Amino acid sequence: MPGCGRGHEAALLAELGYEAIGLDFSSEAIQRAQAVQGSDRTQLRWLQADLFDGAALAAAGITTGSLQGVLEHTCFCAIDPAQREAYLDTVARLLARGGWLLGLFWCHPRPDGPPWGSDPALLAQGLSRFRSVSPAAARTPAPPRSTPGPMQHCDAETAGSGRSHRGAGWRHQRCGNR
Ligand SMILES: C[S@@+](CC[C@H](N)C(=O)[O-])C[C@H]1O[C@@H](n2cnc3c(N)ncnc32)[C@H](O)[C@@H]1O
Repeated sequence: MPGCGRGHEAALLAELGYEAIGLDFSSEAIQRAQAVQGSDRTQLRWLQADLFDGAALAAAGITTGSLQGVLEHTCFCAIDPAQREAYLDTVARLLARGGWLLGLFWCHPRPDGPPWGSDPALLAQGLSRFRSVSPAAARTPAPPRSTPGPMQHCDAETAGSGRSHRGAGWRHQRCGNR
């Protein structure tokens, strides 16, 4: 969970049975997440690191192909838009084969931010490095306890076509499906 803030989504992933990592470069955010969600435990750990600092990630065991999934919730719209390609490259690098990216991407047209909006067509282009896989074809192993219902699984490896989008909504990427 990049840019985990107070850690609500990371904690939810842990509750759903994933081994979740809440990552944020803000010490205040990590301290707050620990205060709200609790300290490290088996299914949930907190990491203060910059998503773009590959060495810091590697030191924490987050290496190429090491993640089953990435949950994006208002980190992409919080970073400088100039960093978006680096964000997508980083996620693509860290995901294991068959891994998934589930994200809420803000597509408002306002020129200011954060949250910085995305042009749906440009977003789809950026996300086209990921490939869409239909829910029926999902191959990601189920987590130990339960699977989040609305997720669609996409193959991390092969680029394919992304759909264009209007507005913000949950999308499981490499694809653009809602
Ligand atoms: C808008 S908040 C989202 C918090 C949380 N995901 C939520 O939805 O409540 C964005 C978070 O991303 C973090 N962040 C921004 N750039 C980052 C980076 N390069 N590496 C790690 N965290 C980053 C910020 O510190 C902030 O906590």
